[in-house]
Amino acid sequence: MTGGPPEVTLRVRRSEPGVTKQRWESFGVPLADRTTVLDALFWIMRERDRSLAFRCACRAAMCGSCAMVVNGDERLACKTGLAGLATPIRVEPLRSLPVVKDLVVDMDAFFDRYQAVEPVVRTDERLAEPAIISPLDPTRLEIGAGLDCISCGACYSACPMVAADPDYLGPAALLRAFNVLADQRESPGPAPAREAVFGRHGIWRCHGIQECTRVCPKALDPALAIRRLKRRARSGEFGS
Ligand code: FES
Repeated sequence: MTGGPPEVTLRVRRSEPGVTKQRWESFGVPLADRTTVLDALFWIMRERDRSLAFRCACRAAMCGSCAMVVNGDERLACKTGLAGLATPIRVEPLRSLPVVKDLVVDMDAFFDRYQAVEPVVRTDERLAEPAIISPLDPTRLEIGAGLDCISCGACYSACPMVAADPDYLGPAALLRAFNVLADQRESPGPAPAREAVFGRHGIWRCHGIQECTRVCPKALDPALAIRRLKRRARSGEFGS
């Protein structure tokens, strides 16, 4: 018994650029009351290995850049406390995205899909400005429930259909597509985005497994947004 602060073991999945082989490396990390996974990674970088690579920016669960897989589930490292996690704590990069180094993944594929749904409202030019929409409008409430996406990629990583079909648009892009296409200000005219959303790698690829909803760190429900898109597509509401 040393009398020092309690320790917890972090097992970090490491890899080097250009090397496909990955390895696990264990670190004993001091555990304080509110130590987060991100705190622990900074401690390792400062005290044990300056080459450890991970991403973060806001440290306040707002930017989405610290998403990673902790004990098998997608989480924000800055929001996830070490206390209460089963040990040793396994920390891995997001899935279904190429690993750049250690816990850093290349997000291009994720953002390419986001871009593919044309994630901005194409305002119907016939509408008077400013558009006046009641905050209690049912569609506005549905859209409002999905506006807090921070594009962290957790849902993309957790989705089994993304893993099975690399061209599938994925939950985050489809959640955004719902928010845009259901918006009362959106132009009803043809839009290339609709082809992607309702095409072969769009909503019909979703089998309703709902891992996206389970892991979303902002408690959003992309699976519900996809179901709403399917329902409206079946009723011909989007002209598809
Ligand atoms: S550092 Fe921004 S969400 Fe964690």
